[in-house]
Amino acid sequence: MVVTIKSSHVVKPAKPTWTGRVSLSEWDQIGTVTHVPTIYFYKSSPKWPTQSNAIINNLKDSLSHALVPFYLLAGRLHWIGRGRLELECNAMGVTLTEAESESKLEDLGDLTSPEYQYLIPNVDYTVPLHELPLLLVQLTIFQCGGISLGLRISHAVVDGKSALQFMSEWARISRGEPLGTLPFLDRKVLRAGDPPVARPQFDHAEFGLPPLLLGELSNAEERKKKTTIAMLRLTKIQVEKLKNMANEGRSIDSGRGYTRYETLTGHVWRSACKARRHKPEQPTALGVCVDSRGRMQPPLPDGYFGNASLDVIAVSQAGELLSKPLGYAASKIREAIETVTNEYVISAIDFLKNQPDLTRFQDIHALGGAEGPFYGNPNIAVVSWLTLPIYGLDFGWGEEIYMGPGTHDFDGDSLLLPSPNEDGSVILAICLQVAHMEAFKKCFYEDILSNSLQA
Ligand code: COA
Repeated sequence: MVVTIKSSHVVKPAKPTWTGRVSLSEWDQIGTVTHVPTIYFYKSSPKWPTQSNAIINNLKDSLSHALVPFYLLAGRLHWIGRGRLELECNAMGVTLTEAESESKLEDLGDLTSPEYQYLIPNVDYTVPLHELPLLLVQLTIFQCGGISLGLRISHAVVDGKSALQFMSEWARISRGEPLGTLPFLDRKVLRAGDPPVARPQFDHAEFGLPPLLLGELSNAEERKKKTTIAMLRLTKIQVEKLKNMANEGRSIDSGRGYTRYETLTGHVWRSACKARRHKPEQPTALGVCVDSRGRMQPPLPDGYFGNASLDVIAVSQAGELLSKPLGYAASKIREAIETVTNEYVISAIDFLKNQPDLTRFQDIHALGGAEGPFYGNPNIAVVSWLTLPIYGLDFGWGEEIYMGPGTHDFDGDSLLLPSPNEDGSVILAICLQVAHMEAFKKCFYEDILSNSLQA
């Protein structure tokens, strides 16, 4: 696909905004601290403005107004030593690029094509961090009149929930509506900037290094292997079937049944163990991203704008996962999720505050780093977007026809998304080593068909 960049604009807040340095919370500074991609596609419709530059002008104008309440996004990050970051609110602005393509939307097939990379702005990480915008947007106009909106947003400033809040409020402003929920900007509720206090109450295995392949002393070789991406759909019936399998034999007094996330993630974990042909004694970790907002006491304020999710891990051996029913994998996942209580979150914050350097907790492969948590072979991470409001982004010209996660390109990285057409199906977006992907797809689907999830 040929995409030609026509112009690039720096968009600044429409009115003067607060300036100064803001401390980030520990959650902002660990995990992915680079920019995360997403993409939306829109088909042209009679509701659209007729002048050719009306859409870009509308986006520019509404974005500059959205950057007033969300002024944090117009600032710049600074490394402050010891692997720590601070945010300077200086209204330097965000980037909005206008591009066009000779292609038509229908040329992109089911819109899950890897050609996305041309539709999502690139971030040049050779540029010093304090010069990089925190938000980059690319509007691409296709020959058919349809458009895509590709975004990259800094994960050091917002998590998925906050990024979606911003997008939704930007769209409201573009439609001429008042803000729905004001962003809550004070990260002190997660003790940002406070000195460390008590000794952590818990051990926090999630901050240790995930298991290595048996016989290997580091994951350096695994990190180098070529990866590929797949979008795998499970129908509502397949999801129900897996849920029934996971919950089979559970007594009524053992509490609520396993959710779609627990079930499907268990199935992904098992399928990855099979596809990677692990020995039974191979240890494997599964990373679960848990939103702490509602788990804190009191819960974080509505509209909390920042990172409030933390990654916990479930650990098992491949042989155990594969020889036991799916419910076993689901139970390990639930156990990990249930550790995340108010006390646990506070203890994890203290744990991180007491670290001399945060670099080893950061996933900075995009910056050329080879440190950080590794959820590639023999590990995996499954992030849930199942309950996030990812669809229905209407800037005043109708809702998207497709929204996707862009290209997440490291081994073991995966996402569960609900189907956009509300038919109860679920999409798994997964990146694995090329050598394992075909076997993974086979296990992922055949094990449901055969109704036998034994190894
Ligand atoms: N929409 C639909 N169903 C909802 C819902 C919502 N907004 N809120 C609760 N539910 C119901 C559903 O019945 C669902 O069960 P089902 O999937 O079997 O139908 C269940 O409650 C989901 O509850 P939840 O507490 O979300 O548990 P889970 O097992 O699905 O997910 C976590 C566990 C840890 C992934 C989840 O609690 C979480 O933190 N999600 C956010 C992850 C996140 O931040 N992602 C973005 C990262 S950048």
